[in-house]
Amino acid sequence: MRKLLFAAAAAAIFVAPVAATAQAPIVLKFSHVVAPDTPKGKAAEKFKELGEKYTNGKVKIEVYHNSSLYKDKEELEALQLGAVQMLAPSNSKFGPIGVKEFEVFDLPYILPNKAALRKVTNGPLGKRLLGLLDSKGMVGLAYWDNGFKQMSANKALHVPADYKGLKFRIQSSKVLEAQFRALGAIPQSMAFSEVYQALQTGVVDGQENTWSNIYTQKMFEVQKYITVTNHGYIGYIVVVNKKFWEDLPADIRGQLEKAMHEATAYGNDIAEKENTEAMEMIKKSGRSTIFVATEAENAAMRKAMGPIYDDMAKRVGKATIDEFIKETTGATN
Ligand code: LMR
Repeated sequence: MRKLLFAAAAAAIFVAPVAATAQAPIVLKFSHVVAPDTPKGKAAEKFKELGEKYTNGKVKIEVYHNSSLYKDKEELEALQLGAVQMLAPSNSKFGPIGVKEFEVFDLPYILPNKAALRKVTNGPLGKRLLGLLDSKGMVGLAYWDNGFKQMSANKALHVPADYKGLKFRIQSSKVLEAQFRALGAIPQSMAFSEVYQALQTGVVDGQENTWSNIYTQKMFEVQKYITVTNHGYIGYIVVVNKKFWEDLPADIRGQLEKAMHEATAYGNDIAEKENTEAMEMIKKSGRSTIFVATEAENAAMRKAMGPIYDDMAKRVGKATIDEFIKETTGATN
């Protein structure tokens, strides 16, 4: 695969010089792993529409959804090599390229609500975290919303004992690994595009995700139970290849920044509604039974997962965790 990526990168450099000419627009490939009909999918399409409009067609934005170009880990490598120019991976996917701090978002129950999320993404910590991407050959442009995660399996999940011995698919985050270990479960890191089949064939027993992902990937068809836990959050970092971005003529970069700004506002505006609608569709299908975790069940889950805050401080940085909690304290929806 690596060889292929190199070849693709070389070809991209050969056929797509950065300077725009009347005949040859600059091509910006935006790869992502979710369905078009999701908060990220829709925001990416909005960016395409606005970016092409504001640059008067000097930039052609090609959006590839559902991992049709690359899966999770490959897409980050492809971005670094310049084979694609833009991605929006979740916070949980930056560990493998050496930026572990984003995993702070994965700490269970660290985000009490959406207002708390906004304080981080719009505040100094959010800015500092984006800055860490520079040394990895990418520029962090924006934070995009998806939503809170729910737990699913073919067994009813209420309290930590229900998770014991079950295999759960996770994103490539050590914090998520620790979270499931704390519940006595067996975490298995896997690309998003492989989750449906892994659930269907019993390679894993369960998973955690947002309503929109559970719905659009049809996971609810192969999971008998979903528990509303809201224990964690999936949000995205829009990243662009640094060299591509810095080599753009300043006026074009400015027009794309404007498009990104507006696409971000649009996507973040619809994310909650998209997730609520996906939940309603799952309910309507009757394929999964949905439980809402009670206060006592949530308390038991928090207690079981609590110790990982200390364990993960070594990885994510204690200062980062403290700053996160400080910035979000008191935030109410
Ligand atoms: C996942 O891998 O479960 C999610 O990060 C997919 C996504 O991009 O929402």
